[in-house]
Amino acid sequence: MKIFDRKKELNAFSLEERRKDRTIGLVPTMGALHSGHISLVKKALSENDFVIVSIFVNPTQFDKKDDLEKYPRTFQKDVSLLKEVSENIVVFAPTVDEIYAGNLKSESYEFDGLDKVMEGEFRTGHFDGVGTIVELLLRTAEPNKAYFGEKDFQQLQIIRKMAETKDLPYTIVGCAIEREPHGLAMSSRNERLSKETREQASFIHKTLQTAKAKIGTKSVKDITDWVTSEFEKQPLFDLEYFEIADENTLTPALKIQDNQKYRAFIAVYADGVRLIDNLRLN
Ligand code: PAJ
Repeated sequence: MKIFDRKKELNAFSLEERRKDRTIGLVPTMGALHSGHISLVKKALSENDFVIVSIFVNPTQFDKKDDLEKYPRTFQKDVSLLKEVSENIVVFAPTVDEIYAGNLKSESYEFDGLDKVMEGEFRTGHFDGVGTIVELLLRTAEPNKAYFGEKDFQQLQIIRKMAETKDLPYTIVGCAIEREPHGLAMSSRNERLSKETREQASFIHKTLQTAKAKIGTKSVKDITDWVTSEFEKQPLFDLEYFEIADENTLTPALKIQDNQKYRAFIAVYADGVRLIDNLRLN
């Protein structure tokens, strides 16, 4: 398996492959790969001749030093996992210096307010950090298509917005959320939960499903109050936010209208670990 750690080398490789009319899928990750990531890689493999998986824990998107330091790094394991999936995978694993050249700063983006709600409200500067690294990865890998999970739905919409406003010629593809057997959305952060909390955390998805079942009979406010009260009864979990929002604008919904699409979004702390999830409502 080819592993690049230099932007220039990856870019030269991509250009050469595209010259040969080979199509490229890009799957950006921060490593600690799990089945959620692998589902993106498989989808990318099914639609392209080969796939570049980037593995880079991007410091500028972390607002808490502690979270960055504790982020799991399992490079050898990640590479073995990818080798098992396909021969048609190339890894891009640069150092922080290769990407930021000693200047750990994000670009400033105009995301049309998509970055002002939910994750953006609670994680200052997060989406400028994401935009910075994703734009760089796209311009370096020059893929035909790039794949992002709906697990981070707000991130997906923000990347779509960035590609549109910057006129980037890469198709952004959204991929469904992969879940653990009991319903917890897969995440590298789940490794940091105790066994008990990890089992109990299926509560997050179950609550979203019950909230969804209430659409049509209860108001947005009643559903939000109900979710809040369910979490107040749970000593293991601290609810940071629950929001029903329009899928495209991400603005909070006051009521559900049939001609718009909505999702429920949630962020919860468990064992000091921040977990996010979302579910399409209509
Ligand atoms: P990371 O959390 O490693 O996720 C990489 C990609 O995998 C993202 O597009 C994310 O939405 C997707 N993903 C994670 N868990 C998933 C699941 N359970 N089901 C489906 N897709 C899932 O997201 C990032 O890294 C970073 O912000 C990144 C885009 C790489 C920029 O640094």
